[in-house]
Amino acid sequence: MFVKTSVTAVAMAVIAISNLFAPALPVPLDNDIPAILAVEQNPYAALYYYEADKHARYEAYQAANADLPADEVVWRVNAGLDNAFYTSIEAVTDPAAMPVIVNKYHQLASDYVPADLVALPSGRLATKDTCDAYNQMAADARKEGLSLYAASAYRSCELQNRLYNGYLQREGGNAAVVDTYSARPGHSEHQTGRAIDLCGSFGSLNEFIRTPEGPWVNDNCYKYGFIVRYQQDIVPLTGYKYEPWHITYVGVEVSTAMHELGITCLEEYTVKYIDHQPLQTV
Ligand code: DAL
Ligand code: ZN
Repeated sequence: MFVKTSVTAVAMAVIAISNLFAPALPVPLDNDIPAILAVEQNPYAALYYYEADKHARYEAYQAANADLPADEVVWRVNAGLDNAFYTSIEAVTDPAAMPVIVNKYHQLASDYVPADLVALPSGRLATKDTCDAYNQMAADARKEGLSLYAASAYRSCELQNRLYNGYLQREGGNAAVVDTYSARPGHSEHQTGRAIDLCGSFGSLNEFIRTPEGPWVNDNCYKYGFIVRYQQDIVPLTGYKYEPWHITYVGVEVSTAMHELGITCLEEYTVKYIDHQPLQTV
């Protein structure tokens, strides 16, 4: 206490003396207080991906998710995840962009077909760059005694429609259940030609993660430009069950950055590193 008081007294004396001799004073520290208070009251504004027009939505989402940190609130709202699934739907205007967000809020035109579809070894179609990356990955897997098989890749909107309605019939019309594992037409990444469903040695999607190929793909696919799109830690965000077999080609730059940043959700990466760029520090 004594030391603290003495330090304060000395500091005050120094300020008083410098006031006598220095007419052009530096801006008093007190002037920073309103700014500090503002950040305390608006923790979202300090984030580089803060969007002022979404402020009320940040507050509403925070109120509904009291324990969520501010950075998580802001990127999720920016990605539109505060809306109920299949509401506030926007058209995908540039489906050839790399990467592209196709999810329950972003819909492809029903007649969209990628321009450069080629055949994978299984006969399924994928875009040329997806196919090249897959072939490289499959060749490297083979060197380790692993065998990959692309059971599904490009699907037209019309095929997705038939699949979704087939599942709907099977589930007795319960769309809430079907929506956890099948995309509605226009909302499937398979229509981009960049998504592949993989089978391993047991020849089944559901068993994929229990074959040696499943963990290998999970750990290595980023080296070839793929991500496991519906990871188990982001089920409430994607709205899909864990799909260890569904990989999406996003290009090596994005897949490697996501791997290094520990980001599993493409929507999060898009908000933080594509829609906005972090301030560079030198
Ligand atoms: N199973 C994935 C979510 C799809 O239908 O595209
Ligand atoms: Zn899939």
